[in-house]
Amino acid sequence: MKDSFGREISYLRISITQRCNLNCVYCGKDDCAKKAEELSPEAYYKIAKAFAKCGITKVRITGGEPLVRADVPEIVRLIASIEGIETVALTTNAVYLKQYAKRLKDAGLTGVNISLDSTDGSTYRHLTGADVLHKVFAGIEAAEAAGLAPVKINAVLMKGVNADGAEAMIRLAKEKPIDVRFIELMPFSEKGENEALRVTGDELLAKFPFLQPVESEEGTARYYQGDGFLGRVGFINPVSRKFCSECNRIRLLCDGKIKPCLGQEKTFDVLPFFHDEQRLCEEIKKIIFQKPAGHNFELKRQMHGLNQTGG
Ligand code: 5AD
Repeated sequence: MKDSFGREISYLRISITQRCNLNCVYCGKDDCAKKAEELSPEAYYKIAKAFAKCGITKVRITGGEPLVRADVPEIVRLIASIEGIETVALTTNAVYLKQYAKRLKDAGLTGVNISLDSTDGSTYRHLTGADVLHKVFAGIEAAEAAGLAPVKINAVLMKGVNADGAEAMIRLAKEKPIDVRFIELMPFSEKGENEALRVTGDELLAKFPFLQPVESEEGTARYYQGDGFLGRVGFINPVSRKFCSECNRIRLLCDGKIKPCLGQEKTFDVLPFFHDEQRLCEEIKKIIFQKPAGHNFELKRQMHGLNQTGG
């Protein structure tokens, strides 16, 4: 269905936990101490079913780190069974992906987005607090072997931290048929505004003139390739090129609250209507209709951590 700005809202992101096995410097776990309630697979199924009746066709499971929950395959299986849901994808740091890839594929998962900000072991450890880069690479291989598609890599670059690793990240897209996407740092960290650390998409592109634009289907990312590349290099620029006017997303948090905009704190509780499907649909329609025009990152105000919403 359309919101009040005429945007067709078709993409639901469900955060199934705030917990994470990593501790990335930019994510901001300010609310992690008071651990949020998590719902059962059946509860997410029920809410997602109501969303499907309101026009949602694509679902992405996020966290926190979704694979800290052992019931992810069951959540995927239930959501993939909903009439009208065409794709169910997952965003993960891939540390546990090797164990889950085959089961997730069998449950009906389509693609995986893997958060990987450096291919250098010591930089990765510094960024995430864990010495597990080898597990991430094993997870990527397992995802490809299981036939999960597409496999995409998301990287957030920060000046003086991991930005000098951009070339190595781009090499992954050259050598493998996967998309490597650079996401501009958004103001979610515990330190608040982080403009000094941000590498904009244009700054990055200027450094790699061999990257040429290619036609792409996706709204949020603009894609490029160099000669002989098997994959693509994508740029997602939520700060320097605000794409809120094309936003098709709505978010369900792990405790059942609905968050219409990643960049606005407001959430809506639909659990009181949980047992009345028709009422639940009506409430969801009202919430979608009220989706705000966009984020206000430019106000340089610190936001809650992304562990709540999964990006
Ligand atoms: N700015 C941009 N992207 C972020 N992510 C987490 N925190 C930030 C931030 N402050 C990304 C992760 C992951 C996705 C879930 O959100 O890299 O790919």
